[in-house]
Amino acid sequence: MFKNFVSVVILFLSFCSLQAQELVSPNGNFKIKFALANDGTPSYQLFYKNKEVVKPSKLGLELQKDAKSLLNDFKIVEAKESTFDETWKPVWGEENSIQNHYNELAIRLKQNTTDRDIIIKFRLFNEGLGFRYEFPEQKNLTYFIVKEERTEFAMTGNHTAFWIPGDYDTQEYDYTESKLSEIRGLFKKAVTDNASQKQFSDTGVQTSLMMKTADGLYINIHEAALINYSCMHLNLDDKNFVFQSHLTPDAKGNKGYLQTPCVSPWRTIIVSDDARDVLASRMTLNLNEPSKIEDTSWIKPVKYVGVWWEMITGRSSWAYTDEVPSVHLGVTDFTKTKPNGKHAANTKHVKEYIDFAALHGFDGVLVEGWNEGWEDWFGHEKDYVFDFVTPYPDFDVKGIHEYAKSKGIKMIMHHETSGSTRNYERHLDKAFKFMNDNGYEAAKTGYVGNILPLGEHHYSQSILNHYQYVVEKAADYKIMINAHEAVRPTGICRTYPNMIGNEAARGTEFQAFGGSKANHTTILPFTRLMGGPMDYTPGIFETNISKVNPGNNSQVNTTLANQLGLYVVMYSPLQMAADLPENYNRFLDAFQFIKDVPVDWATSKYLEAEPGYYLTIARKDKKSNDWYVGNSNGYNARTATINMDFLEKGKKYEATIYADAENADYKTNPQAYKITKQKVTNKTKLQLKTAAGGGFGISIKEIK
Ligand code: NOJ
Ligand code: CA
Repeated sequence: MFKNFVSVVILFLSFCSLQAQELVSPNGNFKIKFALANDGTPSYQLFYKNKEVVKPSKLGLELQKDAKSLLNDFKIVEAKESTFDETWKPVWGEENSIQNHYNELAIRLKQNTTDRDIIIKFRLFNEGLGFRYEFPEQKNLTYFIVKEERTEFAMTGNHTAFWIPGDYDTQEYDYTESKLSEIRGLFKKAVTDNASQKQFSDTGVQTSLMMKTADGLYINIHEAALINYSCMHLNLDDKNFVFQSHLTPDAKGNKGYLQTPCVSPWRTIIVSDDARDVLASRMTLNLNEPSKIEDTSWIKPVKYVGVWWEMITGRSSWAYTDEVPSVHLGVTDFTKTKPNGKHAANTKHVKEYIDFAALHGFDGVLVEGWNEGWEDWFGHEKDYVFDFVTPYPDFDVKGIHEYAKSKGIKMIMHHETSGSTRNYERHLDKAFKFMNDNGYEAAKTGYVGNILPLGEHHYSQSILNHYQYVVEKAADYKIMINAHEAVRPTGICRTYPNMIGNEAARGTEFQAFGGSKANHTTILPFTRLMGGPMDYTPGIFETNISKVNPGNNSQVNTTLANQLGLYVVMYSPLQMAADLPENYNRFLDAFQFIKDVPVDWATSKYLEAEPGYYLTIARKDKKSNDWYVGNSNGYNARTATINMDFLEKGKKYEATIYADAENADYKTNPQAYKITKQKVTNKTKLQLKTAAGGGFGISIKEIK
């Protein structure tokens, strides 16, 4: 069933040969033109269905001053065309087999005056373009320092964009929908507070960037396989609508230290006249290497609850005591301090969560605030914050492990580093061994606050190398990683499938920090999720946060039914039921959907999609013939159409529909939902009303 063929045509070019090359995608929808200007500057141009999508755009890298830049003075010495077609099976995912089919054009360029070679490699898929720079090993190019990558993405007009501010340290922003020309004027308003943040330009935006053209084309720009390089942002020349790559600098202002042979990440441009194709694209994964972990049997999707939301809402605390103003780890004796009575990670309370998880069929329980150090955990740029192995006096590691094991529950470890990457690296082996010894198979890591070493950024090359080191080291210990505040993913989970989650966007926690925009989750699948799954932590049923903590007036800006839809809409092999058990106990009938919904899928169908407005996705369970449909709706109440032709012909199913009630509204009546059941077949077409900020979840079970 696996097909894999490669054909290669090599064109050796003489000095006076063509200075232009073309490549077409396997389905013929895409074409690129590569050209060299008179001064030897390379450029590319992209067409979709014969329409220009990217105008001629320059390629190259500016190097630090001791070396001539790789910007111009090139000639083409070789152009190699090939085709690749293979089907592979992800360890987990939105579908159980993925086709990787592309045409490739590798252009070898020689710089006349330096005799240095680089290769620009283009891959055209049926959904878009990936290209990267390759730097072969050679006498005249060994070590070099990147001052800036000078890749351009020249847009054809003043498109509509769904953007967040370009920032070296955080992606935890709400999206703004605007014309490209409006970004500058809206920029300041779009920058909201974060524990660590640094913008670089008031037309700087992050990838994955989603755009829509006036004639209905959807364009997505991102990167794939971001390894040993710095994270790319886009800086817009808003007179000409040209995006320029802008890499994240390090403490010295440099943007990359490279040693040949090496490659840049892939720059990706996905284009379609149907927004659903953007979601269905597997290009980002396909541009990453196959799994480097041979035995993946220990990597398992996880549905979990956690001692978490009560701290996020401010009802409980991570800290054990209010008595110590600052912690000296190993010196401060917590057994001699007075507990503050709000420390949630205590053995008794954790066991209640384990009981709840076991009763309702969850896989795991996350506990935050279990280890010493939370009394002054961030804001001081403190190096030695946590040691990741020393519990507070009221957290019985062994007892909890035994209790969880007896109930069939896996504990999930929490490693907050508060940005001190080198402190984490110091303790990593011990911390992972401690996890192995105590039955923890997954760690949630976190990087709140400014990065240490000081002056580095969350998205600079050496810090990205830290995140990567943690994922690879974790694999040695058979540990799965879910990193918060790390760089946004770029499909690396194909190569390291133990990276089962990432945050790297504005997650549900912000609903308790004042709220997120009501259409946030209609945008995330087109932006943040293009690179890989997100630990979004949905499932908040009590939308009035003051009912959880009277001191917190935040409002969750969605309906309850929307929260259910997110388990399908926001694909992740790691899904949390984030609310408090007491809130689930109040709405057990709706909670049933969260209990039932799988976290691993055989196939996915994108039924309706418009970024910023609505999304309806159907997915088939990997382990049964059951289907689940989810919807997230934006600001305008709407009727969704679900054509069930994806169901197997001749089979009968029962659908349980968890929808917004007639009078539901995210602001005025968020908890109004109704649950109905009906028989369905592949001929059924459903019309379902969704409220403003609403949505729905449907489980469709085969009747045997
Ligand atoms: C921010 C993370 O996103 C959140 O999930 C976590 O609870 C806190 N940091 C504390 O580590
Ligand atoms: Ca966060």
